[in-house]
Amino acid sequence: MYARVLLMARVLIAGATGYLGGFLLAEAKERGHEVRALTRSEHQLSGASASIDEVFVGEVTKPATLVGIAKDVDVVISAIGITRQKDGLTYEDVDYQGNANLLREAVKSGVRKFVYVSVLHPEKMASLKVVQAKERFVRELQMSGIDHTVIRPNGYFSDMLAYLKMAKSGRAFVFGRGEFLINPISGRDVAAKCVDAIDLDDPEISFGGPATITHREIAQQAFDALGTKSKVTCIPVPFAKALLWLVRKLTPTTVYGPLEFSLTVITTDMVGPAYGKDSLGDFFHDEVARKHI
Ligand SMILES: NC(=O)c1ccc[n+]([C@@H]2O[C@H](COP(=O)([O-])OP(=O)(O)OC[C@H]3O[C@@H](n4cnc5c(N)ncnc54)[C@H](OP(=O)(O)O)[C@@H]3O)[C@@H](O)[C@H]2O)c1
Repeated sequence: MYARVLLMARVLIAGATGYLGGFLLAEAKERGHEVRALTRSEHQLSGASASIDEVFVGEVTKPATLVGIAKDVDVVISAIGITRQKDGLTYEDVDYQGNANLLREAVKSGVRKFVYVSVLHPEKMASLKVVQAKERFVRELQMSGIDHTVIRPNGYFSDMLAYLKMAKSGRAFVFGRGEFLINPISGRDVAAKCVDAIDLDDPEISFGGPATITHREIAQQAFDALGTKSKVTCIPVPFAKALLWLVRKLTPTTVYGPLEFSLTVITTDMVGPAYGKDSLGDFFHDEVARKHI
């Protein structure tokens, strides 16, 4: 259902420097919106300058640096979150508190809508720290009174590069018999849905990519893109669970957090309503052609 249509909105994109963020900038600009991008340091966005009208340098975990960030903004889209640990900060610091700091500024400045990127099927991953932090923010967003849409996408193509890297090394590992299902989605398709959300009434939108496949098929697509013979080794699921238990006991959240997320996602079926156009096989072929792998 469509709400008021903002032909040209002033959009603040947070998480602009990430995989999804790059597509968000391009999509918002292409649709004629005025784009302000949040970054921790200006040089990170130099490659995307054509899609940006204004850069705001700030740090979501330091509220004092965010003052005025949402002034004259109609819509905030936040893709801020920890995916690969690098700062020694926790999910609570960034996925929850960082986004909460941003929300506070948005409310203060009278922003019309807040679009937040969380995860698909949080109920299947309720014990994970990252999911707990994200959903804590979702609850805060729901209680804030601001019009909002929570975007719940399946795993991005960027995360499937792990299969291409394994295939490049000669052998791919899958859990169980690789039979778990997933419909991964491209950053471009997720970005399109996030920008659509500017004019949608839906408080929540869950989706995955257009094709549902097994993890073994993803591994096969990676070998096909490389033109090499497929070699797949199966790891029993109980072994994966035991490994996770051990890592949880022996390492801090910064180490086990991303690992437990990946292990949980690939040892269960993770499928959302089909959306988008981009194909994972084409993405793998492009990555190989561009020698990114
Ligand atoms: N990857 C997936 O498969 C997937 C699936 C569903 C949902 N999501 C969610 O979608 C969002 C975007 O994912 P992505 O794959 O595009 O992630 P990404 O490439 O790692 O980008 C994350 C963004 O968050 C920012 N960020 C991280 N830590 C920060 C900190 N301490 N302070 C300020 N900014 C920080 C990064 O800024 P810097 O560049 O400055 O580090 C970057 O702009 C995340 O919230 C993720 O949880 C991801």
